[in-house]
Parts: sequence; C-alpha cells; structure tokens
Amino acid sequence: MPDKNANLTVAGRSASLPLVEGSQGPSCIDITNLYRETGHFTFDPGFGATGSCKSAITFIDGEKGVLLYRGYPIEQLAQKSNFLEVAYLLLEGELPNAAQFTEFEHAITHHTMMHESVKNFLHGFHYDAHPMAMLCASIASLSAFYHDTANPNDPEQRKLAAIRLIAKMPTIAAAAYRYSIGWPFRYPRNNLEYVTRFLHMMFEVPSEPLQLNPVVAEALDLLFILHADHEQNASTSTVRLVGSTGANAYASIAAGIAALWGPAHGGANEAVLKMLTEIGDAKHVDKAIARAKDKESGFRLMGFGHRVYKNFDPRAQIIRAKCHEVLDALGVNDPLLEVALKLEEVALKDDYFIEHKLYPNVDFYSGIIYKALKIPTEMFTVMFAIARTAGWIAHWIEQHEMPGGRIFRPRQVYVGATPRDYRAIDKRP
Ligand code: ACO
Repeated sequence: MPDKNANLTVAGRSASLPLVEGSQGPSCIDITNLYRETGHFTFDPGFGATGSCKSAITFIDGEKGVLLYRGYPIEQLAQKSNFLEVAYLLLEGELPNAAQFTEFEHAITHHTMMHESVKNFLHGFHYDAHPMAMLCASIASLSAFYHDTANPNDPEQRKLAAIRLIAKMPTIAAAAYRYSIGWPFRYPRNNLEYVTRFLHMMFEVPSEPLQLNPVVAEALDLLFILHADHEQNASTSTVRLVGSTGANAYASIAAGIAALWGPAHGGANEAVLKMLTEIGDAKHVDKAIARAKDKESGFRLMGFGHRVYKNFDPRAQIIRAKCHEVLDALGVNDPLLEVALKLEEVALKDDYFIEHKLYPNVDFYSGIIYKALKIPTEMFTVMFAIARTAGWIAHWIEQHEMPGGRIFRPRQVYVGATPRDYRAIDKRP
C-alpha cells in the first residue's frame, strides 16, 4: 500500500502531509498544515506547482494535450455541440436534454437587454476608449443595477447572475464597439440564436438588413466553445480570488475581465495581430524569430507558449484547421496568414522553441479568424471575454457550493528593510 502522506523534515521539524487525489491527473501534497508543523511555508511565484482549489469543471493534461469540459473531450464538443449547450454543461455538470436546453436558451434570450442606464454609462466614455475598458467597467456597474439580487450566498441569486452575465455580455460588448465607431446601439433580437444575435448587434445598421454568411456564425460559435473554460488560468483564478472575499458575481467577473486583458493572457490575440502586422512580410520572419530568442530584446512571439501545454494546445489544433476553412469559404486572401504560417513553420523547427516547448497556442490562430470575420482588432479580447464568462461564472458558483471555502490569501517572502527607527525630515540624508 503506497504511503498516503509525504513526509517532510525541515530544520529539525517534521510534517506528515496528506496526499490529495483527484479523479484524474497527478496527486498533490496538501500543505495546509505545513506552516503550523514546520514553521515554513512554500515559495511558488506564478503558482506553477500550486493547486488553489478542488474543481470538477475542466481537466487539462498539458503533456498529452488533453482538454475536457466536465469529462467531455474538447474535440467532440467542438464538432458536435454549440456554445450555449457548452455553457449549460459547464454550469450544471451535465449536457442538457431537449427540455432543459429550451428552458436555458429561453432564460438567456430573455435576459439579453441591458438597462437603459447602462447605455448612458457607456455614453460617458471617450469615443476612443478601449472596448475592454468599457466592458470591464460596465460589467462591474451591473452590481449597481442588480444590488438587490446579488447576494452570493443565495443559490437562486447566483443562478440569476449567471444567466444575466452570459446573456448581457454580448449586448454590452457590441454596444461598446458601436459606441467606439459612432453607430447607434442595436437592441438584441430574440428570434435569433446566441451567436447570430451578437453578430447582428455588432454589424447591423438601421438602414439595411444584415446579410450574414452562416460560416461566420459557425466559426464564432466554435471559437466561443474553445474559449469557454480553461480551469485555473489567470482570469479564472482572479474571479475565484475576488469571489473568495464574498464579492458579488458582477464584481468578481469584472475582475476576471481585467485579468484577461493582459497580453500574457487573453490580450494575446490582439497582440498576435499587431505582431503579424509589424512583421509585415514572410521574408521578415527570421528576423522576428531571432528577436524573440534574444532575451535583451524584451520581445516574445505572441501566441506562442503556454504555462500548461508543453506539447501542443488541442484548441490550437482545432482552430488551425478551421482557420483555413473560414478563409477559403469567405474568399479571404490575407497576407498576414502567410506571415503567420511562415512564423509557425520556422518556430516549430527552431531549437530554441523546441527546447523551451513553445508551440502556437489558441490565440495564435483566433486573431486571424476574427480578422477574417471582420471583427476589429480591439474587440478580439472582448470576444474571448464573452466566451470565458461561461467558465468564470461556473467556477464562481462552484466555489460557493463547495464546503470549506476560505479567503484566498497567499503569503510572501519579505525582502525589504529590517526594522529601523523613524527619522525627522531634517535628519534624513
Ligand atoms: N517567445 C519567446 N520566448 C518565450 C515565449 C515566447 N512566446 N514564451 C516563453 N518563452 C521563454 C521564456 O523567455 C523563458 O525562457 P528561459 O527559461 O530561457 O528564461 C521560457 O520560455 C519559459 O517562459 P515563462 O515566461 O517562464 O513561461 P510561463 O509558463 O510563465 O508563461 C506564457 C507562459 C505567459 C503564455 C508565455 O509563454 C508567453 O508570454 N507567451 C506569449 C503570450 C501569449 O501568447 N499568451 C497567451 C497564453 S494562452 C491564453 O491565455 C489563452
């Protein structure tokens, strides 16, 4: 019988630390009592070796390139499901039957309107505000609109917040975009399904009906499925950290949006496109690769590398195939795609990228598809936020349903000044 504890002795004090087993994946050492028993705590900047919670939502095996939502392989969901069904799966733990799906879709559809005052709120921004800034602030502002039904300790109110957030995120996202280009806001049309409704809110003008190629909605739905959840990534961990304080769902998700914005996370899709545009031509790719390998340059290949996937990102494989299909179907001949393919080809053969296990991630291709779909570059990370809302809120709810939740409060290794006496201003150097 293998030992179910890890035994650690440090500076003459010992701790017997229990192993924690999940249903899949490596076992973990429970260090909750480490400090009490040894007087030491752990140092893990970036949390690469730290599990912050138990979760039954998403499983990743980074070595094998496996991604499961509630046990279902991402490849099967990408091929057979749709975003709303995936959102239900993430929230409820099971795929819906026909009646459950109808009820869920109805609930989402009938919560898509935003309060007219949210429009006024959006009107307060400068016209060139970044849509992520507008989205983040507007979602935080929903706490003010729904303060009477935002109790995180009430299961019904938690569920209502989930429905509202998944329903309203596309409405607010489209409004942020239209505001930036001076177009009037478009109300959500309930006769359309989720993704098509969003595209109408984005692109329909009052003067003529929108002719939408079905390939566009199909591709966007796929991208939403692939981005819907990814276990304890930076933004989801942020949502859980804020949620652990007892903050309401709207405040917690707004924090997740802020975390997503950075180029090391969801902002990478926008950064990829800017990088490809800067490289400009496939013949400049070698120079870009050399720069990315030079630590002094401070330049990284955007859309390459992942904290967890060290062989391939399964989402990138799905999206890569779709990328070509979409460009062909829409008749797009984008020179940036040539740059992207060359970059991918050279990087995958390069010793530095092989040794560092750096492969294209999901954001490397998503930007190219978004561009082909005529989604403006500043909106790329907003697209990610719409999809990830399903995962964020599923994690926020799970956190509240799981017993034994505590406020997230990491420790630090203090490297500052040791105690010293205050000096009057005229006595300071
Ligand atoms: N280009 C060049 N070198 C890189 C890159 C890159 N894109 N990514 C990592 N490296 C190098 C680092 O310089 C480091 O080298 P060293 O060990 O010789 O010092 C090594 O690879 C490990 O890098 P870390 O930053 O420690 O890896 P970490 O797991 O912390 O970071 C991250 C992962 C943030 C994704 C990183 O690979 C990166 O910055 N990539 C570019 C941004 C990006 O595409 N982000 C999207 C992530 S996916 C998502 O959020 C949906």
